[in-house]
Amino acid sequence: MTELSFGLPLPRVDGPAKVTGQARYAAEFDQPGQAHGVIVSSTVGLGRIVGIDDRETLALPGVLAVLSHLNAPKLAYRKHKSGIDPAFGERLHVLQDDRIRFFGQPVAVVVAETLDQAEHAANRLGLSYESEPPVVGLDHAEAVEIIPDAGRQPGGRASDSARGDADAALGRAEVQVDATYGMARENHNPMEPHATVAAWQGDQLTLWSKSQYVVNEAAQIEAVFGLAKRSVRVICPYVGGGFGTSLRTWPHVTLAALAARHVGRPVKLVLTRRQMFDTTGHRPCTRQRVALGASADGVLSALIHEGTGETSRHEQFVEALTAASRYLYSCPNVRTRYRLTPLDTGTPTYMRGPGEASGIFAVESAMDELAVKLGMDPVALRLRNEPDHDEAHDLPFSSRSLRACYEAGATRFGWSRRDPRPGSMRDGRLLIGWGMASATYPTMRAGAKARARLLADGSVEVETAASDMGPGTYTSMSQVAADALGLAVDDIRFALGRSDFPAAPPHGGSMTMASVGSAVQAACLALREASGLGNAVPSRQAYGALVARRGEPIVADAASAGGAEQQRFSMHAFGAVFAEVAVDPDLAMVRVRRVVGAYGAGRIVNPLLARSQCTGGMVGGIGMALMEQTVLDPRDGRPVNASMADYLVPVSLDIGTLEALFVEETDPHLNPLGVKGLGEIALVGTAPAVTNAVFHATGRRVRDLPIRIEALL
Ligand code: MOS
Repeated sequence: MTELSFGLPLPRVDGPAKVTGQARYAAEFDQPGQAHGVIVSSTVGLGRIVGIDDRETLALPGVLAVLSHLNAPKLAYRKHKSGIDPAFGERLHVLQDDRIRFFGQPVAVVVAETLDQAEHAANRLGLSYESEPPVVGLDHAEAVEIIPDAGRQPGGRASDSARGDADAALGRAEVQVDATYGMARENHNPMEPHATVAAWQGDQLTLWSKSQYVVNEAAQIEAVFGLAKRSVRVICPYVGGGFGTSLRTWPHVTLAALAARHVGRPVKLVLTRRQMFDTTGHRPCTRQRVALGASADGVLSALIHEGTGETSRHEQFVEALTAASRYLYSCPNVRTRYRLTPLDTGTPTYMRGPGEASGIFAVESAMDELAVKLGMDPVALRLRNEPDHDEAHDLPFSSRSLRACYEAGATRFGWSRRDPRPGSMRDGRLLIGWGMASATYPTMRAGAKARARLLADGSVEVETAASDMGPGTYTSMSQVAADALGLAVDDIRFALGRSDFPAAPPHGGSMTMASVGSAVQAACLALREASGLGNAVPSRQAYGALVARRGEPIVADAASAGGAEQQRFSMHAFGAVFAEVAVDPDLAMVRVRRVVGAYGAGRIVNPLLARSQCTGGMVGGIGMALMEQTVLDPRDGRPVNASMADYLVPVSLDIGTLEALFVEETDPHLNPLGVKGLGEIALVGTAPAVTNAVFHATGRRVRDLPIRIEALL
């Protein structure tokens, strides 16, 4: 009998392929006869194209074509709602008219024999515009109502809410905090750029394309080109970092397919780092007001959370900015409100803990401000307001281990040694600050399918159209499959990233293991049943013999539904994050020395991968607190820091020790595997833990992220 692999810290099964370069990413699927496409991006932020002079470009060596709205075919652009695309609005229709909606919008694609030739020719394309100044700042435009759409989010996570009378209760409260918090626009900046290799065979199209949602990418391109179902196949075995930027299908995929059809050859199109700042989404800039009212002993009586996020003019991107404020603490009077401000920019999208990471920053900063006003320990304040059920939805939590997280995190961190007075802790001349914050993220689960195939050698292939952007999907799914079959992880060959595999939901929202894992388990249990193994001890040899007797591989398909459990329980992962910063009092430089995060996230399939995912999330949170910010030139909407040299992300020297702990949590209500979402939760809570630590070190409350040196001088 093989030992169960669930819970074992196994290294990545795809590790060797990755470190030896065998793992192939989208841009590495070169095709015979392939040409190269380069996108020409608008250099104005609003207006229209009045002229395109391509004579010089077309005469350059190797140039095969210039596609623009002047000669591109009218595309079908059938309606396609995926759940990932905003519910209201219409995606950018590329090369269909002369309008410029935002800086960097693709206006042409140049195709040539080599990449160098295409890049050079693209630079020589003569474009003239009529332009006017775009509106790109949240403060320069009016916020609007969000168009209601019943299908938008389960439970209306983006909708307004009220219970009790929060405004009246705030007015009556003994202690009040009322503050406004801002967060900059951020770009995902994964290492791997967006890339698509497109090849047509008649009306059939194959796309090797970076995607966190291959099934949708195929359907999306079918809709754009007006093709029959199953005309498009998307292949993407590896994703070199996603953070949400590859959930949607952005215009470059259409352009690659369009270019390939136009020149009658496969075309490879890779976005430049600069182009990734224009057309592949970003975390929306937000402004939030949080007002808290409490009694002198720290019992919350009022919580108001109002937020505004940016969106584009052509779509309403909605995230769950205020959702967590409704259930995180016990409070009889709560009001939340969320609005959007349409700007002349590309559409924002989900990014690293979308919604909660931004919203919780504001709420957890306000909680820290309240603790200071009350003269209360921040952990004690939170414990005083710990609810016994989800008061927003009047549902029991399926499980909520936040008390255990505070306990485990505080103990590991050494929180009891904290001197609460700001500026009181020092290391030589450096100011030391200790801060903490709570974290939460919903456990979502969507329908998923998987197929398992028992081969003659007793090994098993498992297929599903999931993606793996880095959390270790290949490995954790192999563990689930191996356990269901009674085999070893080495006996499993897990395959993903093809749209013609059994359908899987988006690889995002921390729901892959809950959704796809459940389907993989079901398929493998069905295969075990179908194999006729019965009560015999499972082994590769025993399974192989069964296939030999049958004379052919044994196949089982399974689907796992999701969501019904959400009607009966409020299901979320919770966490507590503790951070230590050191601030140089003369230079105002902030260094994060250590972060301890304790999480209640259900059962942990693989603690090695889980820790790695959480420390990665913490790095993102540190970036959010101290560095990341996309700066737009107000004159034309141009991102002025669109490079990895100018858009700062934390590197090894910017972070100290990161520790992720998982508290024991057995939750029978979640899904067959008993897992909660893991990944996004590590983003949530990290930024406010850091900024609260900065307050503790300096006595300066910075409410706008990222914290810049100027704010502390
Ligand atoms: Mo994540 S922002 O759902 O890829």
